[in-house]
Amino acid sequence: MFYISLAVLVVQNASLILSIRYVRTLPGERFFATTAVVMAELLKGATCLLVKQFALFLYDAVVVQYVDTLKLAVPSLIYTLQNNLQYVAISNLPAATFQVTYQLKILTTAVFSVLMLRKSLSRLQWVSLLLLFTGVAVVQVEQGQVGGGSSPGAAQQSYAVGLVAVVVSCLSSGLAGVYFEKILKGSSASVWLRNVQLGIFGTLLGLLGMWWAEGAAVAAQGFFHGYSPLVWGVILNQAFGGLLVAVVVKYADNILKGFATSLSIVASTVASMYLFGRQPFLPPRRGCGRSQRGQSPSLKPPVLMGGTQARAAQY
Ligand code: C5P
Repeated sequence: MFYISLAVLVVQNASLILSIRYVRTLPGERFFATTAVVMAELLKGATCLLVKQFALFLYDAVVVQYVDTLKLAVPSLIYTLQNNLQYVAISNLPAATFQVTYQLKILTTAVFSVLMLRKSLSRLQWVSLLLLFTGVAVVQVEQGQVGGGSSPGAAQQSYAVGLVAVVVSCLSSGLAGVYFEKILKGSSASVWLRNVQLGIFGTLLGLLGMWWAEGAAVAAQGFFHGYSPLVWGVILNQAFGGLLVAVVVKYADNILKGFATSLSIVASTVASMYLFGRQPFLPPRRGCGRSQRGQSPSLKPPVLMGGTQARAAQY
């Protein structure tokens, strides 16, 4: 279970980022990101219900022991914020930049694990984390030099907004992950029950966020406005990924989960090469000035490419 869940998580993480990026940059009517977050939460809660068929047991566990249930409100609130911010970040940053920067969550997870779970890390582990931080910083400096990307819809994208969103997501990921691990490993309640409790708060808080951020638009155009089979695919992937995280945290821990998902960068890169024709190892051409933000020659598709091909190459 341990190895299978880690391996599946790697593939899921890679495909989720790419598919979110793809549906968020398609031309035409955009779906509401907040409703997608709500649907993913609903699906996760419902799946857990089916898996354990513990409807009767739930009344006692969730309602009668409501103090225990309330504990899950904290990680649920943080995860809901994080899941919405992830859409903001991926809608504003190229998928690769997001993927690399988001790996900072391993550092935040390690710090929270030390503070909240009293875990101790070896000197080698701290050095690895420092290297990780340096790698992320290098990517940021490179982005600053060659431009934030010229992907479709780049005019509506803000690198700064994306960067803030991903940094806050990293803090949320570390805190919520470690908080959940503490609750899960601090009692005998099953991971399914914990995720039902998380799903209840996640759905309610997600609805609140939707009402606050996009309430009027959702009321005018409908909850499922802009949904396509692809959007449903993203939602299913996200819900499945959440349950996978829960299982991985149960059998391993958040730090290992972080390093496993970072393998998804390699998987994403290989997938990008085949799906979108990206060449990851090409250095930016000389003379690519800072003033050419968004016009990086290395990201430009060849002139002879057709519309769809050119669009794909820009991912
Ligand atoms: O990037 P990170 O690994 O922090 O993402 C965790 C994801 O897993 C979030 O989308 C969160 O909502 C989900 N999750 C979950 N159930 C858990 C723990 C995390 O659905 N028990």
